[in-house]
Amino acid sequence: MADAAARNLVDLSDAGGHAIAAMINDAQDRKAARASWPKGQPDADKPLAGQVLAMIFEKNSTRTRVSFDIAMRQLGGTTLILDAGTSQLGRGETIADTARVLSRMVDAIMIRTDDHAKIEEMARYASVPVINGLTDRSHPCQIVADLLTMIEHGKALPGLEVAWFGDGNNVLHSLLEAAGMMKFNMRIATPVGYEPDAEFIELARAGGAVVTLTNDAAEAARDADVLVTDTWVSMGQENAADKLAAMDPYRVDSDMMKRAKSDAIFLHCLPAHVGDEVSEAVFEGSQSVVFDEAENRIHAQKSVLLWSQRLLG
Ligand code: CP
Ligand code: NVA
Repeated sequence: MADAAARNLVDLSDAGGHAIAAMINDAQDRKAARASWPKGQPDADKPLAGQVLAMIFEKNSTRTRVSFDIAMRQLGGTTLILDAGTSQLGRGETIADTARVLSRMVDAIMIRTDDHAKIEEMARYASVPVINGLTDRSHPCQIVADLLTMIEHGKALPGLEVAWFGDGNNVLHSLLEAAGMMKFNMRIATPVGYEPDAEFIELARAGGAVVTLTNDAAEAARDADVLVTDTWVSMGQENAADKLAAMDPYRVDSDMMKRAKSDAIFLHCLPAHVGDEVSEAVFEGSQSVVFDEAENRIHAQKSVLLWSQRLLG
């Protein structure tokens, strides 16, 4: 069963606000220290030298896959990838057995899966750290990168007004978790029936965040500091015409950006569907920081890995 010493990041609450602040600081320091170095060159201290991260993908990925791999290289370690199609997971070997076997062979496990219960089971049975690389419920590593990006762009987190548009999905759930821990406020504009889970709203409010739910996108955008959206149809969801129609008024376009503060930034975890959840003018515009955000997945991942190995926070 799980090693009490293993630090898992199944959700951001596993770390807490203090550790997340430490992760962001360390990510900024490491990023600055290696500016303009070749991307595969290890950091001078190689803190994870000799360590191996196993990455399990039950869903597609570009950023999470590449950023964890490069993060491990920069920390001096290595990675390997398992997918359902070519591992015994695809033939019905249990998560519990997979967790126990991998714990004998590698130093940490990252899993991207369709069912949050699977990562919880993995964390229960693994004796090495288990890190959430996205589930149907949450995407914590994405949000560490997003917070780093906000701070880099001069947005101190406490009291920040962060507006979300569209689907109340996994990325929003982790953003809400972060709001409670880092004390920023959230305006969430969704169509009726696509709100985030109440559990995450309550968590944010319990932490002191002001969370406003609305069906009026313009209201959410007014004087916001950060505007965030994501695909209207997440992996594993049905591409339903009625959902797409309901989402149409929630596109982040130039009118929406004009309602926000003049120095507001636009975030999107990517992959983007330009013309759906975001207009081309906003996606390609000067307030869009989506490629900084994508790069920051590497720097944030390094901090998550160091925290999970008790070398940080
Ligand atoms: N943002 C994100 O997690 O991207 P990938 O699906 O490409 O990993
Ligand atoms: N909400 C999206 C995020 C992709 C990185 C999904 O789950 O597909």
